[in-house]
Amino acid sequence: MKYVTGLRCRECGREYPVEPVYVCEFCFGPLEAVYDYTKIKKALSKRTIEKRPKTLWRYKELLPIDGEPQVGLSSGFTPLVRAENLAKYLGVKELYIKDDTTLHPTLSFKDRVVAVALTKAKEFSFDTVACASTGNLAHAVSAHGAKAGFKRFIFIPATLEHSKIIASIVYEPNLVAVDGNYDDVNRLCSEIANKYRWAFVNINIRPFYAEGSKTIGFEIVEQLGWQSPDSIVVPCASGSLLTKVWKALKEFKELGIIKNLKTKIYGAQATGCCPISTAFKLGTDVIRPVKPNTVAKSLAIGNPADGYYALQAVKESGGAMEDVSDDEIIDAIKLLAKTEGIFAETAGGVTLATYIKLLKEGNIDRKDCTVLCITGNGLKTSEVLYERTAEIYHIKPNLASFEEALKRINQKGR
Ligand SMILES: Cc1ncc(COP(=O)(O)O)c(C=O)c1O
Ligand SMILES: [Zn+2]
Repeated sequence: MKYVTGLRCRECGREYPVEPVYVCEFCFGPLEAVYDYTKIKKALSKRTIEKRPKTLWRYKELLPIDGEPQVGLSSGFTPLVRAENLAKYLGVKELYIKDDTTLHPTLSFKDRVVAVALTKAKEFSFDTVACASTGNLAHAVSAHGAKAGFKRFIFIPATLEHSKIIASIVYEPNLVAVDGNYDDVNRLCSEIANKYRWAFVNINIRPFYAEGSKTIGFEIVEQLGWQSPDSIVVPCASGSLLTKVWKALKEFKELGIIKNLKTKIYGAQATGCCPISTAFKLGTDVIRPVKPNTVAKSLAIGNPADGYYALQAVKESGGAMEDVSDDEIIDAIKLLAKTEGIFAETAGGVTLATYIKLLKEGNIDRKDCTVLCITGNGLKTSEVLYERTAEIYHIKPNLASFEEALKRINQKGR
């Protein structure tokens, strides 16, 4: 059963058939999937969703595929964890972590978008998939593409974290490391996408790929007992994830699955790459591209494709944007680990540190029910913690040496 009727330009509203195209021929605006919500309303209810397997495909009518899911069959439905220790530490009432560091095959929210993009690539009969990536997407396309039998071209900035490079190359895609930052890689990939008939998941398949991010929003609502929270904090690179979390909440409202939509959306960036939060703070809609310089490499997109739409989503919802320093990011990674036992990558550090800043500024209420989107696993960026972790007690293999160390441990009171 088909629920997508076509693609529509976000700027001029012109409609296009369902094809691997992403930009309007008339005004160069981005294209977006259009759904028949009347038909979806008849097919989808809370009860039908609840009966389905616990994966992102339980919301399949709201995803832009025509047939049955073919890729990423175990992706999604990650835990929503009540963060009681962290809430106590921060002096807030009701705090949750949407924990995308775990359960997903490649340990980041990119398993969501890639499940949808590669299913669509199969429907379009592509034999080759490709992407421009800041790391997590490279990992997800390499892995899911291998399982689904695609030829794979993965383009990354050459300076990516070693763990992320290993996490992609182990699946033996064609890994191309480009001398340049993500924005250079993306520009090159747009040229390549014009020349070769490949499914570039975040370029010509982008209108389909991006919809996969809505599933974080759907899951948050379902896991809160079909309620939308007061606030959600989302990390931003291209701004697509944030835009789609907001779209998910609006779709649930449209379908009558939630009655009230009171959620404010907050965007999180690293100060070393914060074109969207800068525009928010300046009160302008013009996003000025920057040259990224931050430890949060997964968020290092200086010219964000969906920055404008992320900004509109934040403003429409009544939320705000903030950005945080590299030290704040690292401190937040450690705080989340020692309070909640969750090891997040740098993007997770950005989200938590931004939340702390927004609390201090009074932008988020301490009485709010807040959800933090922690989107990737810390083992993939562990090198940022070298020399920045707690002390390791190195001893000889005898009791005396241990007790010597124990004296120091007790002095620290840990
Ligand atoms: C872990 C992680 N979180 C968040 C994002 C932000 O995604 P978006 O480009 O949709 O804003 C990325 C992007 O690569 C990421 O890798
Ligand atoms: Zn247009």
